[in-house]
Amino acid sequence: MTKRVDHNESENSASFSVWNGRDPSVPLGKNDHLLKWVEKTARLTEPDSIHWVDGSIEEYDELCARMVKTGALIKLNEDLWPGCYYARSNPDDTARVEDRTFICSYSKEAAGPTNNWEDPFKMRRRLKELFAGSMRGRTMYVLPFSMGPVGSPMARIGVQLTDSPYVVVNMRIMSRIGLPVYAEIDKGEKRVVPCLHSLGAPLAPGQKDDPWPCNPEKYIVHFPETREIWSYGSGYGGNALLGKKCFALRIASNLARDEGWMAEHMLILGVEDPNGEKTYVTAAFPSSCGKTNFAMLIPPAGFEGWKVWTVGDDIAWLKPDSDDRLRAINPEAGFFGVAPGTSWKTNPNAMATLSRNTIFTNVAITPEGGVWWEGMTDEPPAECLDWRGNVWTPEIARRTGAKAAHPNARYTAPAAQCPTIDPAWEDPAGVPIGAIIFGGRRASTMPLVYEAFNWSAGVYIGATAGSEITAASTGVQGKVRRDPMAMLPFCGYHMGDYFRHWIRMQRALGETPRIFHVNWFRKDENGDFIWPGFGENMRVLRWIVDRVRGRASGKETPIGWAPRYDDVDWTGLDFPKEKFDRLQRVDRSAWRAEVLGHEELFLELHDRIPAEMIYERELLICRL
Ligand code: OXD
Ligand code: MN
Repeated sequence: MTKRVDHNESENSASFSVWNGRDPSVPLGKNDHLLKWVEKTARLTEPDSIHWVDGSIEEYDELCARMVKTGALIKLNEDLWPGCYYARSNPDDTARVEDRTFICSYSKEAAGPTNNWEDPFKMRRRLKELFAGSMRGRTMYVLPFSMGPVGSPMARIGVQLTDSPYVVVNMRIMSRIGLPVYAEIDKGEKRVVPCLHSLGAPLAPGQKDDPWPCNPEKYIVHFPETREIWSYGSGYGGNALLGKKCFALRIASNLARDEGWMAEHMLILGVEDPNGEKTYVTAAFPSSCGKTNFAMLIPPAGFEGWKVWTVGDDIAWLKPDSDDRLRAINPEAGFFGVAPGTSWKTNPNAMATLSRNTIFTNVAITPEGGVWWEGMTDEPPAECLDWRGNVWTPEIARRTGAKAAHPNARYTAPAAQCPTIDPAWEDPAGVPIGAIIFGGRRASTMPLVYEAFNWSAGVYIGATAGSEITAASTGVQGKVRRDPMAMLPFCGYHMGDYFRHWIRMQRALGETPRIFHVNWFRKDENGDFIWPGFGENMRVLRWIVDRVRGRASGKETPIGWAPRYDDVDWTGLDFPKEKFDRLQRVDRSAWRAEVLGHEELFLELHDRIPAEMIYERELLICRL
């Protein structure tokens, strides 16, 4: 029997003796605003009971046990997957719903053309209608959470009122919750972001509950001026775990703009060299471009003495410190990772992280009570139940193309369990950032790596970053979707103002991090990837770190500084110069077409685009 590890233990130890036998309806918060808001929401949503979440492990275990009883969770085989649970969602509630996500600022212009906007007064009226009685027959959980280590000056607080116990247990892994957060609220020093969430599935007396209650009508709504989130109809991921995309990116991007910091869709990692010197970098890649793999990279043979440490895999909050250095925290406490494709070969650190105390959603379940997904092992199981609960065999898959796991199947795992978690990952002051990397999935044009000439050129690179759409997602294979700073679905205000904020940040920094662009996905004329990727990306990371430290050379190209063949450490890899030159080639005619492609974005944002972006574009055109 494996010892139960509790990543929240240190923060919540005070609560251990409290919860067992305590009455969860007794308010744990003393803050007047909080008590009044809870009462008001209860009058609107009419839950059967109210549960004040203390965040203890006993409470977590009890909630999971109750969900196992109702069929909402399945306990996995304790010998194989200790402390792990399995959930299967409604087939119509499997991903973030971008078309149902709204930024309801007072003016439409403030939300900008890349966000869905609705009049906030109209939207509030609609939401009140939807939420009226929406929690009938259910418990409303009062869930206080901190994004960032409790007490860190960079941390922010929210309270989510939710009728989903699945959300409570997932949020316990993804953030810091419970008693220490009530204590923070009671201090009255930090503004609390109210997050209201309902599955939109009230129960009539005696009605049997669904294992995954939700509503076909979904609304994920942000009110940026009043810093509020209202989410209705979905229990899944970013729609429902409101600390993540809704708070830590959409609302936080508004806070950050107003207060002079940055909320970004970025991993954070630390590179330790053989002398023990550590350089931290952040990287913004759009979804399914390998952020989690990069954050947990294992250096290849030949890089003895080098080590990559993980601080975060999805979100970074960056702020200048008192020495005007940019420092970053990971506001999250867990990984909500995409399971398919994750294996002991592709990402052993992720596999070790999710091997215990993890909640799996929409993967397949094996007859032994284990989990499986496409890409996890070379040999699929002889039989399992797929994410919809149907029998799945390799033969059925061959005949029908059925997937055992949903392509967006997820694991929710405590970050503290990651073997490469950085010793400073919870440092309240954050870690100093030496480089910012942008990237995407590009079959052509984009070299493996290059460095921006300066901050504003780097902002231009991030603003115009794109990623190729695969046939599976839209049918327009090869088409580049512009995803500025990988924030297209997550920037909570006008994208042009967001670029301006980036430009302005330079003035708050004594020394700006260097900005790079990487592309692991360039293909040759046969459609094969030229670069092996994964651990070999360490070679690129080393050049980046050495540039930051002033140890590596590069050559000037029309788009920025790029390594020559001899500037890259090739120890342990036979990679011919001719192949490297193909990877790094800056094809002027392809680049002229690329710059024309940037025009789309510039036209869309024309009235708010900062002048620096126009000048950078002109300079780039001139150099080409
Ligand atoms: C995520 C995403 O879930 O970017 O992290 O979609
Ligand atoms: Mn993400």
